[in-house]
Amino acid sequence: MTQELTTPAAVQERTRPRTGWWRDAVIYQVYVRSFADGDGDGVGDLPGITARLPYVRELGADAVWLTPFYASPQADGGYDVADYRSVDPLFGTLSDADDLVREAHRLGLRVIVDVVPNHTSDQHPWFREALACGPARERYHFRPGRGESGQLPPNDWESVFGGPAWTRVADGAWYLHLFAPEQPDLNWDHREVREEFDSVLRFWLDLGVDGFRVDVAHGMVKAAGLPDIGAKEQAKLIGNQVLPFFDQDGVHEIHRHWRELLDGYEGERVAVAEAWAPSPERLALYVRPDELHQAFNFQFLTCPWDAERMRATVDASLAATGAVGAPTTWVLSNHDVVRHVTRYGGGGQGLRRARAAALFTLALPGSAYLYQGEELGLFEVTDLPDEVRQDPAFHRASGQDGFRDGCRVPMPWTADGPSLGFGAAAPWLPQPASWRGLCVASQSGDPHSTLELYRAALALRRELPGLGDGTMSWLPAPDGVLAFARPGFVCTLNTADHPVQLPLPGRPLLTSAAVEFGAAHASLPAESAAWWAI
Ligand code: NOJ
Repeated sequence: MTQELTTPAAVQERTRPRTGWWRDAVIYQVYVRSFADGDGDGVGDLPGITARLPYVRELGADAVWLTPFYASPQADGGYDVADYRSVDPLFGTLSDADDLVREAHRLGLRVIVDVVPNHTSDQHPWFREALACGPARERYHFRPGRGESGQLPPNDWESVFGGPAWTRVADGAWYLHLFAPEQPDLNWDHREVREEFDSVLRFWLDLGVDGFRVDVAHGMVKAAGLPDIGAKEQAKLIGNQVLPFFDQDGVHEIHRHWRELLDGYEGERVAVAEAWAPSPERLALYVRPDELHQAFNFQFLTCPWDAERMRATVDASLAATGAVGAPTTWVLSNHDVVRHVTRYGGGGQGLRRARAAALFTLALPGSAYLYQGEELGLFEVTDLPDEVRQDPAFHRASGQDGFRDGCRVPMPWTADGPSLGFGAAAPWLPQPASWRGLCVASQSGDPHSTLELYRAALALRRELPGLGDGTMSWLPAPDGVLAFARPGFVCTLNTADHPVQLPLPGRPLLTSAAVEFGAAHASLPAESAAWWAI
């Protein structure tokens, strides 16, 4: 499967040490369970990924981010870690992880792995010890209950996945879990917790990884006294306000310490925060020069398809990170949200908008995160049978929407086979029949395909010196159209549902839909973006 796609000189060029490689990196998110199944058990794994790395390289990404593959009972897709230093047998072995890192480096790709510091699995040795009472409980948040016999949770906090954020153990005490009960929150005031994560980070850095995606980077510190919030449906407040369990100022000290640790290694190792902060300004605190390198910018992901709102979001994102000297990141999809083809309306319209949004964000200053399958224009699978769903939120919060299995359906590689080339067995979640036409093999070489659009965009981004890190300026544009300039380059986005005429912005480089040209004018098709050389 491994093909020789790069010359040694090209590899050298791509891995050449340069300051701030992450500032304009395109990072491809691999959801490990769903990328490629190497051993034919229906679940994706590390050897499967290694064999498919040339695909990521050929797409034109700079790095891969792997979701957790550590030993875990999989109560939350691996975000419930039982052993931070071993690979779950479902995904392979430590030696497979080592092979993956080495092969990625050989191809000129960097590797970012997830670290999950807010909580462990309830099967982690520390939590098992804690259940037996005694000082081991201090590594977590155990409290007596309220009410006459302690029968009520210690406060009113709700789990992000629905229901109370507390579970009672046999002796009557309660423990805190902001996510599933199988994910008890760690107490970051405990010295051993801090020391243990230093050691875990070093373990993976020593193995050669290039950085970490920090899960719930805004959650490790809780407000003193764990005060009540008093509001119902707290999950809806996340990202809108500082909560006693999210975005507390105390988290920054931990990130500063981690930055020091990363800087102690050669090769510009980085960390990206998954932090749901209430404003771009508060998010920017995570990427101050002595903290983490990047934070996912979810503002654009949650922004509706509206030119003025999109422009305001871009401005606010760039201003906030610019004020602390950090690049911003552009994210349209990930394994926790509805795929953007579907968010943008689904069907032909969703795909049109998704292709346009990809060109628009890939032209903006900063770094971009791509979620596996978005380059194929995959849509959210909304009709999965209940019995195959695995998202713990589905079982805890029935009746709410936003379950995450629909964006985690395994990748289609070929138009046939038991799992469209994902592996030798039926996949852990069924793929829609219509994905045959969206598979990698069907789209490769078709100049109109979404895959070739992404490949062309990433190749141009690499070639054109004006793209990636740097500045931009808005150009005058008609209602519903956004246009911005970068050195030697213009990007236009027509959000309207009808074509719009513009004076020719330059020489066309790449378009998400067929643009018509006159001598001096261009007609931008409905819901399309275009790149122009000037
Ligand atoms: C964010 C992860 O992306 C998500 O998948 C997970 O459920 C929560 N953090 C809890 O770890």
